[in-house]
Amino acid sequence: MAKNLHFLTSAMLILLILSTAKSESFSRKLSPEAQGLKKEKLTHLHFYFHDIITSKNPTAVPITKPGITNSSTDFGTVFMADDPLTVEPDINSKLVGRAQGIYASASQTEIGFLMVFNLVFSEGKYNGSTLSLLGHNAIFSGVREMPIVGGSKIFRFARGYALAKTHTIDLKTNNAIVEYNVYVLHY
Ligand SMILES: *[C@@H]1O[C@H](CO)[C@@H](O)[C@H](O)[C@H]1NC(C)=O
Ligand SMILES: *[C@@H]1O[C@H](CO)[C@@H](O)[C@H](O)[C@H]1NC(C)=O
Repeated sequence: MAKNLHFLTSAMLILLILSTAKSESFSRKLSPEAQGLKKEKLTHLHFYFHDIITSKNPTAVPITKPGITNSSTDFGTVFMADDPLTVEPDINSKLVGRAQGIYASASQTEIGFLMVFNLVFSEGKYNGSTLSLLGHNAIFSGVREMPIVGGSKIFRFARGYALAKTHTIDLKTNNAIVEYNVYVLHY
């Protein structure tokens, strides 16, 4: 009798544990190898970013201006961009993707942009893959480094950094060509 009771209690305890485990089954551990995530690769991407503000067909447009404007840095101004990325500084050279996102004047003491961009690639095996860039861009300093915080498809689990260097900027139109070197770890 006591033995049976003991068995019953153990069985109930196991059931309880099982049902608890089940209620938490929204997450589970996986083996990275079994998912095909074996070896991280380091990829270097090089392209030119064309930010065209003054044109019949601008690729970047201001979307908000702050209510209070008394700033030499246009603090608070936000632009939306869909900027072509090409292999050479010439805009008519091969297109490899587009930088789609927002840049906003986030500094009151220098021209310093908050950059929130998806680099959306369209070339070869990278077609349809993206990298997400989030960083601080003081556009009048030499080489700016910005983190790559993630990616999709070929760039799943991506992390790395982008180095941006102004190739040319026209201070009348504010149109700029920026050279990008991106270093990214991914599988
Ligand atoms: C704008 O900024 C200048 C310099 O900081 C200051 O002297 C002036 O009072 C400000 N104007 C307004 C309207 O806030
Ligand atoms: C990229 O993929 C899209 C959709 O599959 C396709 O329409 C497009 O032609 C491809 N672009 C290049 C450059 O291969």
